[in-house]
Amino acid sequence: MSEQGIKTYFEADHDRLEGLLKRFQELKRTDFTKAKEHFREFKFGLQRHIIWEEEILFPLFEQKTGMTMGPTEVMRIEHRQIRNHLEAIHRKVQEQNPESDQEEQMLLSVLSAHNQKEESILYPAIDRSMTGAECASVFAAMKNIPEGRYST
Ligand SMILES: [Fe+2]
Ligand SMILES: [Fe+2]
Repeated sequence: MSEQGIKTYFEADHDRLEGLLKRFQELKRTDFTKAKEHFREFKFGLQRHIIWEEEILFPLFEQKTGMTMGPTEVMRIEHRQIRNHLEAIHRKVQEQNPESDQEEQMLLSVLSAHNQKEESILYPAIDRSMTGAECASVFAAMKNIPEGRYST
C-alpha cells in the first residue's frame, strides 16, 4: 500500500467505486438482492474515501500549501452534495425501489467532475510535496481510522 503514491491509490479507488455503482445500476431491475450488495459496498467505500480525504489528505494539503480556503473548501462542499445524493439513492434502496435513475445521475454528475479535479490538481500536488516517509504515514493513518466511522 505504501509503495504507491496518493494519486495512484485514490484514482484506483475512484475507479473501483464507479464500477460498484455501475454494477448496481446494471442489476437493480433484474436481481435486486445482488444489486443491493453492490450498493452497500459502494456506499461504505465512498464514505470511507471521503473520510480519508477530509481527515487526512485535505489537512495535509492545507498544511503544505497554506491554502485553507481554496481547493479543499470546494471539495468539502462537493462532498456534502455527494453525501446527500448518496442518501437519496440509499432511501430508495431501503424501500427496494429500483426507480433511482435520477438520483444516480445527480450523484454521478457531481462525482465525476469532483474526482477529475482531485486527480488533476489535488492528488498530484500532495504527491509532489511529500517525502516517501510522509506518504507511508498517510497510508498508516488511513488504516488506523476505525471502520465504525464510515460504516453507518
Ligand atoms: Fe473527494
Ligand atoms: Fe477522491
